[in-house]
Amino acid sequence: MSKRIVVLISGSGSNLQAIMDAIDAGQINGRIAAVLSNKADAYGLERAQKANIPALILKHTEFDDRESFDQAMIEKIDHYQPDLIVLAGFMRILTAEFVRHYQGRMLNIHPSLLPKYKGLHTHKRAIEAGDLYHGCTVHFVTEELDGGPLAVQGKVSIDMDDDEDSLQQKVHAVEHKIYPLAVEWICSDKLKWTPKGILINNQPLPSEGYQLDSSV
Ligand code: GRF
Repeated sequence: MSKRIVVLISGSGSNLQAIMDAIDAGQINGRIAAVLSNKADAYGLERAQKANIPALILKHTEFDDRESFDQAMIEKIDHYQPDLIVLAGFMRILTAEFVRHYQGRMLNIHPSLLPKYKGLHTHKRAIEAGDLYHGCTVHFVTEELDGGPLAVQGKVSIDMDDDEDSLQQKVHAVEHKIYPLAVEWICSDKLKWTPKGILINNQPLPSEGYQLDSSV
């Protein structure tokens, strides 16, 4: 059965676009039931509207606290009975209650080779550390920020002439490959969260996740 996906965004939504494109190309056995943004001016909302996908706005600034905002999100999201929640540049810290509600069926993408560089300014931190490689990770969301089990990683090299902007662009291009891939695998039940850990084709997935570069 085709899976129902709800995507949460706060900004441009280029990862949302990459997933929409993969769905249009028939690569994902699912459909986006709704896109939800906490910001009214998020460009990703226009992308959703163009594709005739319900584009919902829920402003966190209109709520007294994180708990009531997250509760309102749950109500909006659950209306669509999603199988999968995709965080695609959603710039809000989520409450434990929200995370537990979608445990095992919520993915995030983070612009670093986790567990390195959790949090913000990952590109700058990787350059400043003199790293040879940087990249991005799709992971399952748990209560620990950027800390859930890893699903897929994609690597890029950091070249001598890279600055924060150029590195961000390189990583973004890889994000647009690994996120649709991870969503595709979840929708086809190839990749699964289980109480015993993450399985790929019913085999345990190594803790560093599926490495796109080394395996393709
Ligand atoms: C991406 O860099 C992603 O890694 C991070 O937020 C950014 C979202 O970009 N979580 P976009 O809105 O998908 O273009």
